[in-house]
Amino acid sequence: MTAAARPGADGGLIVLLSGPNLNLLGEREPLIYGPATLDEHVATARAAATAAGYELEHLQSNHEGVLVDAVQAARGRAVALVVNAGAFTHSSWALHDALAAFEGPVVELHLSNPMSREPWRHTSVVSPVADALICGLGGAGYRLAIDAVDVLLHPPSGA
Ligand code: DQA
Repeated sequence: MTAAARPGADGGLIVLLSGPNLNLLGEREPLIYGPATLDEHVATARAAATAAGYELEHLQSNHEGVLVDAVQAARGRAVALVVNAGAFTHSSWALHDALAAFEGPVVELHLSNPMSREPWRHTSVVSPVADALICGLGGAGYRLAIDAVDVLLHPPSGA
C-alpha cells in the first residue's frame, strides 16, 4: 500500500541528489542519456513522490563536498535518499562513507546502464551502501526510484 493510500499518512521527505554534469542533461550525450532535462526528471520524481504521499527535495552539484554535506544534512530529516551520483558513483569514497552514515534506505539511480558501458563505469562505490539500484531505464527510473523507496519503507506483506 502506498503512503497516499494510508489515510492521513505523511510519508516524509525524500531527498534526490544529482551529481556532476547532470545539470547538462538534455544537451549532454542525448543518445546515451536521452533528450529530457534534469528539471523534467525532477518533476517526474516529484509527481511520483506527491502521489505516494512524500515530499521531495532535490539538489544537483558538480562538487563532491556539496553532495557529502547534503547527505549529512539529510540525516534525521529525510526518510530516504535517491542518488544519481554521476561519475562520482565510480570514485567517491567520501560519498560512500556519508551514505553509510544515513539511517534510511538509499536508492542508487542511473539513466544509463553503467555495466554495459566502459569498464571504468563497472565499479560503483555507491552500490555497497545502497539498498536498491535502478539503471538503464532512462527517465522512467526517476518514477521507479520513488516506487522503490516506498517498497523499501513499506515492504508489501509476503515480500
Ligand atoms: C550516470 C552514469 C555515470 O557513469 C555517468 O558518469 C553519469 C550519468 C547515469 O545516470 O547513467 O554522469 O550516472
